[in-house]
This record gives sequence, C-alpha cells and structure tokens, in this order.
Amino acid sequence: MRWLPHDLPVADVGAGDGQLTALLLARGAPAVVATELHPGAFGRLRERLGGLDRVSLRPGDGLAPLASGEVVAAAVAGMGEYTIGRILGQGLETARSMRRLVLQPMQRTAYLRRRLALLGLPLTQEDLAWEGGRFYQVLVVEPGKAALPWDRERSPLGPLLSHRQDEGARAFRREVRRVWTTRLALTPPARQATLRLLLERLAALDEVPEGDGWA
Ligand SMILES: C[S@@+](CC[C@H](N)C(=O)[O-])C[C@H]1O[C@@H](n2cnc3c(N)ncnc32)[C@H](O)[C@@H]1O
Repeated sequence: MRWLPHDLPVADVGAGDGQLTALLLARGAPAVVATELHPGAFGRLRERLGGLDRVSLRPGDGLAPLASGEVVAAAVAGMGEYTIGRILGQGLETARSMRRLVLQPMQRTAYLRRRLALLGLPLTQEDLAWEGGRFYQVLVVEPGKAALPWDRERSPLGPLLSHRQDEGARAFRREVRRVWTTRLALTPPARQATLRLLLERLAALDEVPEGDGWA
C-alpha cells in the first residue's frame, strides 16, 4: 500500500484478517484505526491485533466508525465495487475530511470510477497491485484536488492505466483482453456489441505503429 502515508494516522476499512493493519503498524504508522463489519471477522481481528499498541479496532459499517478528521487517509480494499461505492456515498463527509482514500475493488472499476465522479470524489491516481497471481486496480482519491479527466471511450481501463507504457501495465492490459475475449465468446451474439467495441479500443491502445516493428 505505497499510497498510504507512513507517518500519519490512517484507517484500514474492512480490515479482514488484519494483514494490512499489521503492515501499516510495522511501517511505523503512529495510529491505525481498523474497522470491520462482520462480527466473526471482527472477533478474529481482535484476537490477532487486540493487544497491540497504536491500533484501535472498531466494529461497524464502512466509514461510520471513524470520526470526521480523525485519520488523514484510509484504505478500502478487497471489497466489491458496489460495496465500496456505497461506503463512500454513506460516509461522504468523513471521506471528504481525508487527504487520501486508497480503493482496491475486486472488479468492475469502471463502475467505481463513474460512482466517484457522481459523488464528487476526485480520482487523482491509478495503480496496479499484483497479489495471489492476479492484478488488482488501485484507485486513489484525493478530496480537494482536481480529478484526472476521463473519457471512457478512449481510455476503457481508466485515465492512466489505459495508457501507461511500463511492462506491468502492458501485462495488465493483455490479461484484461484475454478475459474479455473469453467473455465475448460466452456472450450471445445479440449482446456482443459493447464488449466487442471495448475490446477493439483496448487492442488499439497497444498496437505498434507501422514501421516501428523489428523488421
Ligand atoms: C476480502 S476481505 C479484505 C480484507 C482486507 N481489506 C484486504 O484487502 O486484505 C473484505 C473484508 O471487508 C469486510 N467488509 C465488507 N463490507 C464491509 C463494510 N461495509 N464495512 C466494513 N467492512 C466490510 C468483510 O467482512 C471482510 O472482512
């Protein structure tokens, strides 16, 4: 989680088994608030991290257990895109009180990008995380800053990840093309148009211009 500060109070929303919280403490965070909705998961979190210094464990939904201004940044990771969108919508005042939110949805980031725009939460950075043999997209929101302009047609995988030219981003786009191509083959012909168009746009992003090859 390189987007979270090392030296300021932060929150881990939906902390699950507490791995990220433990990492943030190990990196030297002065305070970490870890929240968890489900009682069973919260119990396990308390067993694992309850005795530690600098950590506050709180049961509750999304940003509700946090006071406005209490932390400067929060991670909301490993949840579905609708859940993250709902958490931000319901905790908008708390979200806006932070300098940065680092979102790592499981999938459908296009939905979450649109939701952020509707909520007026500016997407300012995008990144990739490679965990457990798959890519995850990381969306960084910084209230008060200008949002990256985003044209979904030109940039089907987001304003930055559609165009980054490092090998990680290229590998990510290849993987998305592979998944979308499989999905296309399973989609009835009458409903293929949108996916086919998105795939063409994605392919065009990584086309090598004529004359730039190895010939
Ligand atoms: C897959 S785990 C991810 C844990 C950790 N954030 C990570 O990225 O490794 C998702 C966790 O989010 C919790 N969760 C789901 N909805 C939540 C909500 N509305 N508020 C707080 N926690 C929630 C679940 O109980 C679960 O422990």
